[in-house]
Amino acid sequence: MDLKIAGKKALMAGGSAGMGRATAERLAEAGVELYISARREERLLNAAKEVTEKYGNTVTPIVADSSTEEGRATLFSACPDPDILAITIKPPDPNGDFLTVTPEMWRESIETALLGPIEIMRHYIPSMKEKGWGRILNIATFSAKNPMIWRLMSGPARSALVNYTASVSREIAQFGVNINNILPGMFATEGSEENAVHYAKAFGLEMDNDVIAEHFNAHNKIPAGFAAIADDMAPMAALLCSPLARYIVGQNIVIDGGQHHSLF
Ligand SMILES: NC(=O)c1ccc[n+]([C@@H]2O[C@H](COP(=O)([O-])OP(=O)(O)OC[C@H]3O[C@@H](n4cnc5c(N)ncnc54)[C@H](OP(=O)(O)O)[C@@H]3O)[C@@H](O)[C@H]2O)c1
Repeated sequence: MDLKIAGKKALMAGGSAGMGRATAERLAEAGVELYISARREERLLNAAKEVTEKYGNTVTPIVADSSTEEGRATLFSACPDPDILAITIKPPDPNGDFLTVTPEMWRESIETALLGPIEIMRHYIPSMKEKGWGRILNIATFSAKNPMIWRLMSGPARSALVNYTASVSREIAQFGVNINNILPGMFATEGSEENAVHYAKAFGLEMDNDVIAEHFNAHNKIPAGFAAIADDMAPMAALLCSPLARYIVGQNIVIDGGQHHSLF
């Protein structure tokens, strides 16, 4: 399918690994001029090089932390006017007992998982409106809709994010600028491997990969029977970033192998 985005400028904020990287690759495959950002430089530079080698695109890496004002300023000056903006941010690690979650932990969660994406969108929306076209995609989490006691540092802030985008998307759709969100379930990514250690601690498990995997699978009961790979969401991400999605406004697409049990 031709996504009709060849030549457009796309920023994947959080694009060096996992679902951000897979989305960046699908956008590159569709012919965009690509900007990818991340905090860790070495992995980011490798990702930019590999995507260029694979698809032949110009890829500009930007070392920047999307959760800080300083990082966002770096992002904005390195990529002033993207047509397509996709954002993902790693929230704080899984929490243990909910009674141990402190106000400082809440503040960190809100700074990263809520204010980071909001401030990036707020910066770029005016230029997209002026151009009369833009696509914004947040890669958030299905725990925005499917609360999990060990993901308090991720789900509640993202519930607020999808609430915000539900309102703002309806305000700006008239200018050809659409915001949508993908809410992923369990994906085997670099990020989820890093989380496994914290998950094990939160549940008092042995640091043994088999023990963690067995507990995790039993806990999550995924109807599809497996944890996805990042490219299981990337085609949908690229579609939402294209003109083909012009009538998809303010939606939350859950991609979770059927884990979240609801009609909508
Ligand atoms: N994997 C899952 O099972 C799962 C489940 C539900 C929800 N999610 C959500 O889906 C999103 C993507 O997850 P993933 O597993 O693909 O993560 P990942 O493998 O860790 O990849 C995240 C990407 O974003 C970058 N990044 C993270 N925080 C950033 C920040 N503050 N500023 C700039 N770049 C940042 C990372 O690079 P650096 O680390 O170098 O910055 C990396 O490139 C996350 O929001 C996660 O909470 C994941």
